[in-house]
Amino acid sequence: MKLQNTNILITGGASGIGKIMGRLALEKGAKSLIIWDINPEALAATKSEFATLGTVHTYTVNIADSDAVIATYQRVKEECGSVDILINCAGIVRGNNTFDHQTVEDIRLTMEVNTVAPMVLTLQVLPDMLSRNRGHICNIASAGGMLGNPKMSVYGASKWAVIGWSESMRIELQQRKSNVHVTTVAPYFISTGMFTGVRSVFPILKPEPTAKKIIRAIERNTIFAGIPFGYHFIRFWQAILPLRVFDWLFGTVFGIYRTMDHFTGRK
Ligand SMILES: NC(=O)c1ccc[n+]([C@@H]2O[C@H](COP(=O)([O-])OP(=O)(O)OC[C@H]3O[C@@H](n4cnc5c(N)ncnc54)[C@H](O)[C@@H]3O)[C@@H](O)[C@H]2O)c1
Repeated sequence: MKLQNTNILITGGASGIGKIMGRLALEKGAKSLIIWDINPEALAATKSEFATLGTVHTYTVNIADSDAVIATYQRVKEECGSVDILINCAGIVRGNNTFDHQTVEDIRLTMEVNTVAPMVLTLQVLPDMLSRNRGHICNIASAGGMLGNPKMSVYGASKWAVIGWSESMRIELQQRKSNVHVTTVAPYFISTGMFTGVRSVFPILKPEPTAKKIIRAIERNTIFAGIPFGYHFIRFWQAILPLRVFDWLFGTVFGIYRTMDHFTGRK
């Protein structure tokens, strides 16, 4: 879907790639940018930074709270009108350690923010899009949702779930020949600060070009965007190689299974 004259809602849009995608949307002529974030200071800073680019509405909301998601979407409808494009971008990673060191609180929070919240919000937005037969839902998953990786088991699980849900919903909409489109995005590590400390043989993605690729994917109604493109082949290698050979190639030779060894995340 082209971005001109659209209302675009981005969760986690006060930082990282969500913030950049918001700016790009305004530069491309979006009618209004609606940003949801848990961080009120970052929201205020983003609103004033983007003030000259177009209309920006900000909402402080903790998307881990389903009731808050439902209530805030009602406010958005009243205050901003229909949402044409939803980008489920907010995400967190917790616990830079192996699974035996994770806590119940961190498991619940990660699943609620990364997995449950995009579903709950989409459940609010989708009926309106279906009734207008127009809309686009973009779900930011992760390359970590396509293969196992030590020290990110819970995060990986949350993103595997997003891919499964997003792909299934996309096929449902295709089967009913709906004009509501779904793009699932699976990027490799991006230097936004979320994964500070990660070391990788493969280049870590830069935020600006990554955000541009996602916006382009929405404009082209791309159904699945692995970033970089080579990550589309993960499934191919998983399919043709015995899993232990895949482990050896990606884990030992390419060092993927050691990428999180020095991960600290944001302080
Ligand atoms: N950075 C990476 O290496 C990477 C790689 C692949 C996928 N991703 C995914 O891309 C998305 C954006 O990542 P980023 O690197 O720009 O992250 P970021 O940390 O820069 O931005 C995330 C935003 O989400 C907001 N947020 C966190 N919890 C929230 C909550 N409960 N309610 C509302 N807002 C909340 C934060 O305040 C922040 O503004 C995430 O879904 C992430 O999992 C990131």
